[in-house]
Parts: sequence; C-alpha cells; structure tokens
Amino acid sequence: MRSHYCGLLRDSDIGQDVDLFGWVHRRRDHGGVIFLDVRDHEGIIQVVFDPDTEESFELADQVRNEYVLHIKGKVRARDDESVNPKMPTGQVEVLGKELIILNAADTPPFQLDEYSSAGEDVRLRYRYLDLRRPEMQEKLRVRSQVAHEVRRFLEANDFVDIETPILTRATPEGARDYLVPSRTQPGNFFALPQSPQLFKQLLMMSGFDRYYQIARCFRDEDLRADRQPEFTQIDIETSFLSEQEIMDISEQLIRQLFQSTIDVDLGELPLISYADAMQKYGSDRPDLRFDLPLVDIADLLTDVEFKVFSGPANDPGSRVAALKLERGDRLSRKNIDDYTKYVSIYGARGLAYIRVNDLSKGIEGLQSPILKFLPDEVVSAILDRVDAKDNDIIFFGADRASVVNDALGALRSKLAEDLDLYERDWAACWVTDFPMFDSTDDGGWTAIHHPFTAPSCDAASMEADPGQALSRAYDIVINGHEVGGGSIRIHESEVQKAVFRVLKLSDNEAAMKFGFLLDALKFGAPPHGGIAIGLDRLIMLLTGATAIRDVIAFPKTQTATCLLTDAPGTVDPDQLHELGIILRKPETE
Ligand code: AMO
Ligand code: AMP
Repeated sequence: MRSHYCGLLRDSDIGQDVDLFGWVHRRRDHGGVIFLDVRDHEGIIQVVFDPDTEESFELADQVRNEYVLHIKGKVRARDDESVNPKMPTGQVEVLGKELIILNAADTPPFQLDEYSSAGEDVRLRYRYLDLRRPEMQEKLRVRSQVAHEVRRFLEANDFVDIETPILTRATPEGARDYLVPSRTQPGNFFALPQSPQLFKQLLMMSGFDRYYQIARCFRDEDLRADRQPEFTQIDIETSFLSEQEIMDISEQLIRQLFQSTIDVDLGELPLISYADAMQKYGSDRPDLRFDLPLVDIADLLTDVEFKVFSGPANDPGSRVAALKLERGDRLSRKNIDDYTKYVSIYGARGLAYIRVNDLSKGIEGLQSPILKFLPDEVVSAILDRVDAKDNDIIFFGADRASVVNDALGALRSKLAEDLDLYERDWAACWVTDFPMFDSTDDGGWTAIHHPFTAPSCDAASMEADPGQALSRAYDIVINGHEVGGGSIRIHESEVQKAVFRVLKLSDNEAAMKFGFLLDALKFGAPPHGGIAIGLDRLIMLLTGATAIRDVIAFPKTQTATCLLTDAPGTVDPDQLHELGIILRKPETE
C-alpha cells in the first residue's frame, strides 16, 4: 500500500516510514551513494541508497529513467548544504531501505525535462510519456476541475444533463461533416454532429426547459492553434429566456470559472456590436487588451490619382483604413517588409505606410513610399484624422472591406503580440447584432451563425433584404478568442421556412434535411435559445497554453492525424465490401 505521494513529503513527515510508488525521473551516482529522483503525479522526491543496504543498493544501481518502483524507506531532513528551496520536497529526502522494481523501461524517446527539443511530432507519437510531464498533468487536472465546476453550477441552476446522439444526420455549423458509412443501409451515411444544435432544440420542444451537456463535436475544417477536428462544448439550451438572460447566466459561469481557477475577476463584460467591432478592430472577435483602432479614411481619398486608394474609396463594398502605431521607430525596414508579407496571407496586396519623423517639418518630416501619389493636403488630413505625433508609423489597407478587415485586424493583433502592447492581462466582451447572412460568390446567402438563429426583424423584412437583416446571436470573446456563441432560435415554422428560402433551400431539400425540425416546430415549440462554450479554448486560456492541443489528452495534428494510433488508417477490403464501398483509384497527376 502507498503511504504517501512522493511530491507531498514535507518537514512534518521527518522520521516517518514510507511506502512510495513512482517512476525514476533521474538517477545520479555520487561516489558510492545513489540518488534516485522518484516522481508521481504530485511531484518528485529524492531517495538515497547507500551501500549499507546492499541488496537495494545494487538494484538502485541497475534502474534507469522511467523504471517503475516501489520504495520502502524513512523520511529524513536533508543536510543544510543539500536543501533545495526550488523543490516543494526540497527540505527532505527518503533514505531507501528496500527497492522493488515493478517494471523496467526502455530508454524513452525524449527526456521529460527536455521535451521542447523533442519536437511536437515526437511528443504526440509518445503522448503517454508527454502526459507524464507535470505541466501536462496540471492542465488536464484543471480541465477536470473546470468540467466539475461547470456541472455543479449548471445543476444548481436547474439544468438537466442529457446526452444526444453521435451517429446522426448533418447539423450545419459551417464546416464539412465527418461521415460514417452504414452497414445495414449500404450507400447511406451517418454524420458525426458538428454540434448537438438540433437535438437540444428538440429537447426544448419536449419541455425540458434547461438542458446542458459537455458534448463532443466533430468538424472537418482547416485547423489552427485553437481548432481541433474533435473538440468539446459546454452546450446549453433554455426555453422562455431572453438573450440577456442567457448571456447573464453564461457570463456568471465564465466569471466564476476565472475567479476560482486563476483568481481573475473578468469584471462585467461590455457589449460591442458586430458592426462596431469590425469597424474599430477589423474582427468579430476583437482583442480588447489593447486599443490600436482602425480608422476610416476613404472619404479623404475619393479624388486622389493613386488608384490603389481611390478605387476602394469610391466602392461601397470596399474600405480604406489606417492603423497608427506609436513609437513606430521600433520597427525597422525589415520588420515592415515582414508585416507586408504577413498581411498578404490575408489577401492584402500591399501595406502602404507613412513614418512620421518630425511633424514640425511638414511633408519633409515624413517618410513613405506613397507620398508621391498623394496631394499634401490629403496627407495632412490623414495625419489629423489619426492624430499623428512624432515617431508614429501609420499603416494603410485599401481593398474589399473583408480583405482590409482581415489584414489590418490581424496586423493589429500581431503588432500587439510582437511589441507587447497589452494594457491589461484579460479583456472579455460580448459581440452582438451579427448580420443574419453573408453573401456568397454566386450571389446567394449563407447563414453567419447557423440557419436556426432568429432574425431581430420580422421574416418579411428579412426576406426582402437579407443583407440588412441582423440576428439575435451573441458571441463571448476573451483576449481575441471566440470562446462561445449562441442565439435565440426560430420557434415558428414559417420563419424557419423563410430562412431556408433565403438560403435557396428548396421545400424538398428542407424537408429532406430538416423535416423533423419543421415538423417539431408545428407541435407547440416554445421560444428558446442557448449557447455553446468551447471547453478546450476556455481551458487553453485558463492554463496559459498557446494551443488547444496542449489541453486535450490525445489531440490531432494540423493535418487531422492522430500520430499515436496512426488514425485515420486504411481498412480491410472485406469491411469496405460489407459497407458497399469501392475506393476510387487515387487520381494521378
Ligand atoms: P459555434 O460553432 O460558434 O456554435 O461553436 C461554439 C464554440 O465552440 C468552440 N469551437 C471550437 N473549438 C475547438 N475546435 C473547433 N474546431 C471549434 N469550433 C467551435 C468555440 C465556439 O465559440 N450550436 C452552436 C451553439 C449555439 O448556437 O448554441 C455552435 O456550435 O469556442
Ligand atoms: P505600388 O503602387 O504597388 O508600388 O504600391 C505603393 C505602396 O502601396 C506600397 O507600399 C504597397 O505596399 C502599398 N499598397 C499597394 N496596394 C495596397 C493595398 N491594397 N492596400 C494598402 N497598401 C497597398
């Protein structure tokens, strides 16, 4: 039986006989005495074997890193000179009396302390070793505690935990579906849920009133640091509550989690409209830890010869904006070239700039590749508009509004990160008043949230001018990450049909894909709405991780592969045959 955890031994245990179980973290041979650092999930203790205990000394001599041991010994104080104030157990050590090797270990592919030189691929291939590291253990423990607290909070607020199917039909959330072939109905496929959206709405129609689930979701989409193909949502749905009430409950939950986990008071979350967020920050998930706003200048540029600016300035779908950075002398020519490359990822065709060296010298005091294209009075109107001071640098974006927003929005965040422009550690907000629809290249519309989100106007006005219709959706944003999103849903079948018409979904298609929902809306559907909070993103923020991979025990790579199990993998031809699937030969160039 274990008597103590290695990492918990303290002064107060001196003199105790202990039974410890753990892994060899490191072994040192100090001229006749062997030191083993033994690790369990609580931490590390130093165990000393001297030649007096001959048998165990010989065994200690044989063990290597990551061997699994049972040690019997006595806790004693360390000599003054060997006290290690950096270790929680650093005041004490264990004099080993008996050593039992429970299992040997091959030389691990990387030393736990030297994981960073191993590279992430190696860490993911041997994830079970990577997870032995204290930092990884800590992150997953925080995750477990947060999930526990979420359940406690929601149960206390009368929410009911209900599981929804994993083998289901497509739920549109804007990504591709993961499909699962049916054996009993060859040629037919289940889709893994992109979210429990439709089922949670149906549960409201069943009268559950308040539902929650810590739900796994699956989306086949381009991956980034804060996206995984399978991830977890704290999924919530309620009946008869207004958007404000739903936002209040979720805000209370998030604030409580920040307080209890990292002792941070997020404060009351300000509301910012989608339109304002895009205009001021070029993003619908604005990072409010710093200001650095985008400033519109199109009106100053409609008549200039420089087509790069006057073209977009005269086009209603375009935007010309400036971004002023104080102390622009921090940026070298090379930095500016790098930022020009960076914004090109977002479609920007250039990154014009003006360096303000000395305002008192007028135009002479400026430095810029575009001065020659702009009349002096336009330049000084721009400087006034952004309130330029000596040493500022002003960047410009001119293009379709979406390109300018993406490019300057991303540049804004990149500058803040590179130059540490943050004025506070945490900034959370709600983004509201999203548009219902986004236009598609072929002149149609797609739903910005999902097609079950209620418009804030009536259905007729929405259909008459889909581009102007706003939705009753809300997102919660923390430090530039979209942590959650939800909406009031459509509960009337006529409104739902109107949305399907805008999306050019024929009656037949609508009936085929969502007939069950349209049916359910006919039998007394209550007004309802909800939200889903990304648990992985929340834990990433709470643990200071830079990617959600670090807070998921067995994550996938950027190419959606599990390096540990080598999934996805090929399957037996018989299995394919049973499923009625014939593989097309890979296309050759
Ligand atoms: P949405 O698609 O906005 O809404 O998702 C809700 C939250 O889930 C998280 N999230 C992700 N996290 C990791 N990897 C991903 N690939 C990923 N995709 C989304 C985000 C996001 O804010 N059914 C609606 C919710 C509702 O309306 O109630 C939905 O799924 O943190
Ligand atoms: P050019 O006339 O292409 O040499 O561009 C002159 C300057 O304007 C260069 O600094 C470019 O980086 C910049 N530039 C070009 N196109 C754009 C654009 N769409 N938005 C912002 N700056 C641009």
